[in-house]
Parts: sequence; structure tokens; C-alpha cells
Amino acid sequence: MDQTERHDDSLSEAGLIRAMAGSRQIPRVSVYDSIDSTNAEAKRILLTGEAQPTLVVAEHQTAGRGRMGRSFYSPAHTGAYFSVAYVTPEPPDSVVTLTGATAVAVMRAIRRLCGIQVGIKWVNDLYLNEKKVCGILAESLFGAWDDGLWRVVIGIGINLNTHDFPNELLKKAGSLDVPTLTREALIAAVWQELMPLLEAPKERSWLADYRACSTVLGKRIKWIENGEERVGSAESIDGDGALMVRDASGQLLRLFTGEISLFAD
Ligand code: BTN
Repeated sequence: MDQTERHDDSLSEAGLIRAMAGSRQIPRVSVYDSIDSTNAEAKRILLTGEAQPTLVVAEHQTAGRGRMGRSFYSPAHTGAYFSVAYVTPEPPDSVVTLTGATAVAVMRAIRRLCGIQVGIKWVNDLYLNEKKVCGILAESLFGAWDDGLWRVVIGIGINLNTHDFPNELLKKAGSLDVPTLTREALIAAVWQELMPLLEAPKERSWLADYRACSTVLGKRIKWIENGEERVGSAESIDGDGALMVRDASGQLLRLFTGEISLFAD
């Protein structure tokens, strides 16, 4: 059965606002049929001086971006690609904490709507059945502006019912696979889970879920440092969301940026 025959899964500003009814804050919403990247558009919106939270949603991205300069595969009709442009007097402590809080918000939204428990691979990926189903790209715009406010962009890409991955992604990428769930409901639920965390950037109770859902704690991992592969064991996640790793010499290291992989990857 074709996706469009299953149920109405179209994306519209009115539909998203309806889906967010009852939220403590309703953002400005912009929906695009096709755009380069919702993160890029959220930045452009912030650069105009817009101060209201804005949700930028796209049916399809022609240049969806991931961390470490990667691209994010964003085909039409099967995924939720959206960014939150947020202006705040209280800055998030770091992009790592912002990313971790967002991962927890998305995990909670998926659990609440579909009863599916996804795992969180430090720092920004959500996994289901050992395949990546969601990526997060949080970015901060140049510190505080003259008005003392901070501008952040949080981009989220969720593979809801995507199956036709290109060959290079086939082994790693997966999908939530919930044909009855609409993308508007999913995006609205993420917004509802994310807002309280953005409003209280110093509050860290989300870390309990971040640790509990981690797919890396207790595992042997590898990462690249100064061009060299390093190996260690992921021991804990500290109060800032940094990963504490014991290396082969027994030293405890704090990873606050970059990317790790599990040995099975
Ligand atoms: C990653 O996997 O490294 C992060 C992927 C983030 C993808 C989302 S899709 C919506 C938003 N717009 C982008 O260009 N990127 C993010």
C-alpha cells in the first residue's frame, strides 16, 4: 500500500499548530515542500532578528546536514525533518548538553506515541534494532548578541517509514516503521517534550534518561583523536553530558566532542 493511501500524512502549518494545541508555547511554524536544510533556514530566520521560537519543517531537504560535515538523507514523504530556532536569555551550557537534552526529548516523544524504546548513542543518534533512526544537529549562533540573547538551532531528522536507503546507508540506517503515526503528531510530541528542557537549561534531570537509554555505557568504543584511533571503555556520562572513557592504560578521559563508534559498528 502506498504511504499516501494509508492515512493523511501531509505536513501543513495549520495541521502542526493543531497538533501542538495544549502545548505551553506554540511556535511560529514554516513548512516547505523542499528546502536545502531546515537548519540553514532556521539560521536565516534568526539572522532576520526573529525572536519568537520558530519551527521549520520540510517535506524534503536537498542538502540535509549532519554532524562532522556529513549529509543527512532526507527523502520526501517518509521522514520528519525539522529545526527549532530558539532565542533565549539563558544560554545552554554547551552544544553537547543541548544535543543530549534533545535526544532525550525525542526518545520520550517516540516512547509516548508509539511505545517504542529507542537507544541513545552518545552524543546525538537514536537507534532502534541497531540501526540509526534519528540524528540531531544542534548549533549555536555566535554567542550572545548585543541584545544579550542567545540564538540556537536544533535540527532533528527522524526516519519514520523510510526504507529505500542508498546502498552506503543500508547497513546503518533504519526506520521507526510506524505507518499509522503521522509526522505532524510526531513533530508536535517532540516539541512538547523539548520545550520544558529548553526553558530550563540548567535543569539536568533529563540526564537520568540519557544514561539509562545509552547504547554505549559499559561498551568498548573507539574514536579518533588528532588523527589517531583510540580505544577505551565507556564508563559514565557526567553532569554536562560528556562521556567518561577508561583508556587502555587505565586513564579516565573526558570526551566532550567528536564521534565514537562501537566495536560492532
Ligand atoms: C547527524 O546525523 O549527524 C545529524 C543529522 C541531523 C539531521 C537534521 S534533519 C533536519 C535538520 N536539518 C538539517 O540539515 N539537519 C537536521
